[in-house]
Amino acid sequence: MLPSADQQEILRRRTFAIISHPDAGKTTLTEKLLLYGGAIHVAGAVKSNKIRKTATSDWMEIEKQRGISVATSVMGFDYNDYHINILDTPGHQDFAEDTFRTLTAVDSAIVVIDSAKGVETQTRRLMEVCRMRKTPVMVFMNKMDREGKDPFDLMDEVERELQIHVTPLTWANGQGLKFESVFALNNRPSNITGKLAEDLEMVDGVYPEFDKEAYLRGELAPVFFGSAYKTIGVQELLDFFVVNAPSPRPVVAEERTVEPMEDKFTAFCFKIHANMDPNHRSCIAFFKICSGKFLRNTYYYHVRKNQQMRFAAPTCFMAQKKETVDEAFAGDIVGLPDTGNFKIGDTLTSGELLHFKGLPSFSPEMFKYIDNADPMKQKQLEKGINQLMDEGVAQLFVSQLNGRKIIGTVGQLQFEVIQYRLEHEYQAKCRWTPLQMYKACWIESDDAAELDMFKKRKAQYMATDKEGRDVFMADSAYVLSMAQQDYKHITFHFTSEF
Ligand code: G4P
Repeated sequence: MLPSADQQEILRRRTFAIISHPDAGKTTLTEKLLLYGGAIHVAGAVKSNKIRKTATSDWMEIEKQRGISVATSVMGFDYNDYHINILDTPGHQDFAEDTFRTLTAVDSAIVVIDSAKGVETQTRRLMEVCRMRKTPVMVFMNKMDREGKDPFDLMDEVERELQIHVTPLTWANGQGLKFESVFALNNRPSNITGKLAEDLEMVDGVYPEFDKEAYLRGELAPVFFGSAYKTIGVQELLDFFVVNAPSPRPVVAEERTVEPMEDKFTAFCFKIHANMDPNHRSCIAFFKICSGKFLRNTYYYHVRKNQQMRFAAPTCFMAQKKETVDEAFAGDIVGLPDTGNFKIGDTLTSGELLHFKGLPSFSPEMFKYIDNADPMKQKQLEKGINQLMDEGVAQLFVSQLNGRKIIGTVGQLQFEVIQYRLEHEYQAKCRWTPLQMYKACWIESDDAAELDMFKKRKAQYMATDKEGRDVFMADSAYVLSMAQQDYKHITFHFTSEF
């Protein structure tokens, strides 16, 4: 076990992500949290969208051009006795996979919902990942200063659509133009009358008391109402969050469960960010520390490469800038400068042979053949594709029929990012040929004969992923469901981890 001062450091850490559908108010809420933490001091920065333009997430050239937050960054700051790490996630849905992976590195999440729009698609998808991982979530019903849905309807919608029980901890005094403030339900004003009094009677009758254990199991979400823009209801959320949200949680590795307080350092890589400096191809590998304490210039064991490595310039992320750090604790994210040594999912330890689980690739939904468009640059193209895939930008499959490379993504924008980065970072040119495919799924079976038969019959739809595993590329939902019916002993997996 770590010395108690180090344990205290770990106990005070709150590492989380804010998830939402684009435009629900994630950026605005993040900024308000940073303001409360004293990490930034710019009043009105939201209006000018300043945080978007200056935040550490704004590293990639392509992001500047498109104004879309492609990158995932970390914003650390202190609030009261707590150290908060907010992991930013790309707002654009084409980068959903990036967000999924970021969610593997958080200990909890805050879901922001636009009270006029209710639960939207992206929120639903992200919440599925939280449910899968049993991540505790709190809900912030934002934009109460606008005419929106009825609060009870909103809570019903969250309960139904996000499949989680809810209980409000604050309540809005009015809505839309009449919205003035929120109050804590356990400390409500005594002089309430009229419609609000009726509402509160209903709240008391319908919703359970907040049960911290149920929240920590990911079964119950406390709900806060407010307006990030007007900074109403944000402090109530933050004060409750720091006290109740979990400190770093145990992490399951293939070999065993790792406890944060163990004195041996362990961490896994959930994100690789390239091209931080356009002058040379520098990457930063983001590691979530699962246990112990990380020290600069100390040798750690890179499990996949079976190699000891040390890092002279590890960085942590404080508010809007990254800083070199001498030490970091379980719960923290460290950025390690990388020249191609790391892949998503890599494990670093103090010597133990350990593999962290839970970084699945998701079944892509868009597919294109990728071909070389500049015969002189074949090598550069190969290298570029391999490195971009290691970063997790998209997934590579090789057709078993014709040996051609197929790139699978969750959105069109990723093809553009790949093409852009191949050109700018690797001086390589590629050409795309769209492929009409429905889904790629990983197949396995205990019945070798049936598997063999399937692979022969479906030869033209079979591909191999980067690890050499068999992947079935179904060209329609119908074909997939027929295959599932006809081959009862084959399991079709929609994430790479099974
Ligand atoms: P996102 O990161 O989730 O994509 O959303 P973001 O915070 O950028 O907010 C999207 C828009 O919603 C912004 O308006 C923002 O000002 C507005 N907004 C956020 N919270 C609230 C709120 O509580 N009430 C109201 N009324 N609006 C809110 P915009 O017009 O796109 O930008 P701006 O001109 O305001 O900067």
